[in-house]
Amino acid sequence: MEVVVRPCKPEASWLAARLIAAAIRAKPSLVLGLATGRTMERLYAKLVQMHREEGLDFSLVRTFNLDEYIGLPPEDPNAYRYYMNHHLFDHINIDKRNTHLPEGMTDDEAGEGARYEAEMREAGGIDLQLLGIGRAGHIGFNEPLSALQSRTRAKALTPMTIAENSGEFTDPARMPRRAITMGVGTILEAKRLLVLVTGESKAEILAKAVEGPITSMVSATAIQLHPNVQVICDNEAASNLSGREYYEWIFENEPEWQEYR
Ligand code: F6R
Repeated sequence: MEVVVRPCKPEASWLAARLIAAAIRAKPSLVLGLATGRTMERLYAKLVQMHREEGLDFSLVRTFNLDEYIGLPPEDPNAYRYYMNHHLFDHINIDKRNTHLPEGMTDDEAGEGARYEAEMREAGGIDLQLLGIGRAGHIGFNEPLSALQSRTRAKALTPMTIAENSGEFTDPARMPRRAITMGVGTILEAKRLLVLVTGESKAEILAKAVEGPITSMVSATAIQLHPNVQVICDNEAASNLSGREYYEWIFENEPEWQEYR
């Protein structure tokens, strides 16, 4: 795992966007795993900017989102399909038929998990999975005690997640209590993980995810099991990391980071 600390949110998002752009340029038909949430809004704005200003080409890219709320139709402004169209897909040259999210309106939840997994397999698996971390330690919506080998399935959300996300709803009571999410095991099968974490409110959970013991109580600790992980964070989110000086030394000295310094 590598941890890169940037001075502020815009710089952390910019670095994450440049890493994704480099992956798309290296493999134009990249299978890209996507996340939603406040943290990703800046990153998607940067990708849109790179498409407009540098011609970053999404025409062959295929995407799979981590999760979707159960019970919200795609056109609902709080559905993650709506979020993705609004923040990214409507502004780049991606073929929407190549963009995938779990079906939140399914009446066959178990079947939907299996169907989504099969779609990912048919695409050849995820090349690069983007992740945020929730304050309860989730990746995707893998709330505490999600098995480290869990697969795509319906999951009940914790009160902390409901409190965190219900503010996004015009009527907080409308927030669904359940979601369909890739499992921790599904996420760990991606060839590469790119984790973006910003803001002071994430400092405690980021330190646990990166430096704490691996436990299903904090799903994000599972990223320690993956052989190819880059965590990009800002100064505020990094404030509880005990190995910070070492991570900064690596960023300053390792040749792979030279073009990003
Ligand atoms: C959303 C997702 C979640 C978020 C996490 C952080 O698709 O998978 O794990 O990444 O809840 O959300 P924000 O960025 O809103 O703090």
